[in-house]
Amino acid sequence: MNTKTNLITLADGQQMPQEGFGLYKVTGQSTISAAVASAYRAGYCLFDTAQLYKNEAEVGQALTDLEVPREELFVTTKVAEENQGYQQTIDSVKDSLHKLQLDYVNLLMIHWPIERAFFDSWAALQELKKQGLTKSIGVSNFQMIHLQYLATQATEMPVVNQIERHPRLNQAPLVKFDRDHHIVTQAWSPLGRGTILNNPVLREIGAHHHKSPAQVVLRWHLQSGVSFIPKSVHEARIKQNMDIYDFELSDEEMARINGLNDFHRTGKEPALVYEYNKKW
Ligand SMILES: NC(=O)c1ccc[n+]([C@@H]2O[C@H](COP(=O)([O-])OP(=O)(O)OC[C@H]3O[C@@H](n4cnc5c(N)ncnc54)[C@H](OP(=O)(O)O)[C@@H]3O)[C@@H](O)[C@H]2O)c1
Repeated sequence: MNTKTNLITLADGQQMPQEGFGLYKVTGQSTISAAVASAYRAGYCLFDTAQLYKNEAEVGQALTDLEVPREELFVTTKVAEENQGYQQTIDSVKDSLHKLQLDYVNLLMIHWPIERAFFDSWAALQELKKQGLTKSIGVSNFQMIHLQYLATQATEMPVVNQIERHPRLNQAPLVKFDRDHHIVTQAWSPLGRGTILNNPVLREIGAHHHKSPAQVVLRWHLQSGVSFIPKSVHEARIKQNMDIYDFELSDEEMARINGLNDFHRTGKEPALVYEYNKKW
């Protein structure tokens, strides 16, 4: 993969770019095509979509239009709560592949853990991997308890856990748990959906390195050893978010950013989603 970021080797032997491109709330063919093309030019190869985002068809078209060999791309999608259950998951993933115009995705995830179909959906992912419809299988929004519960019946464990992570929710214990269990943590809303970028500590560190607060935050993810998938629809920001490989945060700066944690979630609490079987 011709990417500007590092390649991480997953526990199943597959390689995944450390930095990827988020596509939540990116809608409309022209916007998606422009964003995907800018991202690819800027050095992103990982593209993160989901059934929930209702943009798989447009993302598929944008990726096709890039006209690059399939091996150059790393495509992720996720199974929505309403499509969970053994057969529903299998059917919905075949539909996702059709929309994406792909024979396989690189990474297929359970979007949120839900009580109703917890083991059945995972069994379906294991089967889809066996059939070659995905190279790797992972989860999203799983807490330690969900991973421990999954381990009681799984024949293989997730290789990636995509969770909300940014300076106000650094998830240190879960990141450590994932690492101890050979699971790569991938940060969603790595920029806290843009809401943390006025923070004075981030501005000060940015000024010191001649970088923006967003670049400081992404560099913090990089040096924390997690994967991260910022989203932007603006070319200059898409480029800026990849331009983080020419400076280094000191241990003291990393500690200051870790100190911004105040357990602030922008998304839902996974334990509640599990209990209610849906996100909203
Ligand atoms: N698994 C899950 O449950 C889950 C949940 C949420 C998200 N995700 C994934 O994670 C991806 C990223 O998360 P996210 O989209 O929620 O939020 P995010 O990447 O943390 O932040 C995106 C916001 O920050 C702005 N932004 C981006 N780069 C910037 C920069 N350099 N300077 C200033 N502002 C900047 C964007 O605005 P513009 O677009 O206007 O530039 C947008 O409003 C999603 O797209 C999706 O793929 C997964």
